Amino acid sequence: MSAPSLRDALLAWFDAAKRDLPWRRTRDPYAIWVSEVMLQQTRVETVIPYWTRFLRELPTVRALAEAPESEVLARWSGLGYYRRAKLLHAGAKAVLARHDGEIPRDLAALRALPGVGDYTAGALGSIAFDLPVPLVDGNVERVLTRLHALPGDPRAATVKKRLWALAADLAQGPRPGDLNQSLMELGATICTPTSPKCLTCPARNWCEGVRSGDPARFPEKPARAPVPTERWRALVATRGDAIWLRPSALGRWSGMLVPPLTRDDVPAWGAELTDVRSAGRVVHVLTHARLEIDVTAATLRGEVPDGELVPLAELPRRAVPRVTRAVLERAR
Ligand code: ADE
Repeated sequence: MSAPSLRDALLAWFDAAKRDLPWRRTRDPYAIWVSEVMLQQTRVETVIPYWTRFLRELPTVRALAEAPESEVLARWSGLGYYRRAKLLHAGAKAVLARHDGEIPRDLAALRALPGVGDYTAGALGSIAFDLPVPLVDGNVERVLTRLHALPGDPRAATVKKRLWALAADLAQGPRPGDLNQSLMELGATICTPTSPKCLTCPARNWCEGVRSGDPARFPEKPARAPVPTERWRALVATRGDAIWLRPSALGRWSGMLVPPLTRDDVPAWGAELTDVRSAGRVVHVLTHARLEIDVTAATLRGEVPDGELVPLAELPRRAVPRVTRAVLERAR
């Protein structure tokens, strides 16, 4: 295989076809870090406004490190996978403590930061610092398994190792950040999960998958188990234009504000309610569960037993997951 010319083809294609994304107009490693963390489980179009706002409100590593966690979560509200925000926050604190606020230009030091795994270290190292280091995400995994007609479950350790070695080989050359981004971009726009656009692919002359006649058969991922359904009940209890919310104890929204939730069929909400009525059902799909939430609306008398009464006008500034908004919307 002639690696250098595949590299040239990828870089030339990237220069011509890359999407104009706001984090591609900066060399600020902090801004790139934030974008790479947001992009890990979230689509580009969703990330753009969040990234722009986040950088405006928390423009430096220091600003992020010194912000209270509730503020960081509020800026992340609606993006999902809130653990990412907490880990980014912890990472920023570590950059302050260990590196005097300067994100280190060194793969091992990057990798040692909380929340920075192989992918993020590779992305920061190559895109922000031009280090010849690889990265593999879902898009790169698809591109490389097709390019090399690589059999086996890409999550298996041996296949994973092979993918990182192949990516490392490609990153060993000029413009490693652009090369890595070209692989991700190719996966996002040409080498798509179904119906890849091989006719316009810059890598087609090197592609074993194309030669095999059925590139889309790679990666050979075992089918996912169907996500389980969880039945919940939620209470939307209002007093005037304030609503009863409490910090979630569930890992998926930990610390963020949710309405009282229970899996009990006959809930005891522990508050004095009047005008209790059923408000219908919200279906909320997460990665690992499909939630069917029956919503009860009521008027709250007396004090809230725990949590707080949050004025509706204050919600945009608070750490609130999407499910809270969906449930409130249902009860309106
Ligand atoms: N997905 C995540 N980060 C990306 C990047 N820098 N370029 C293209 N796709 C991406």
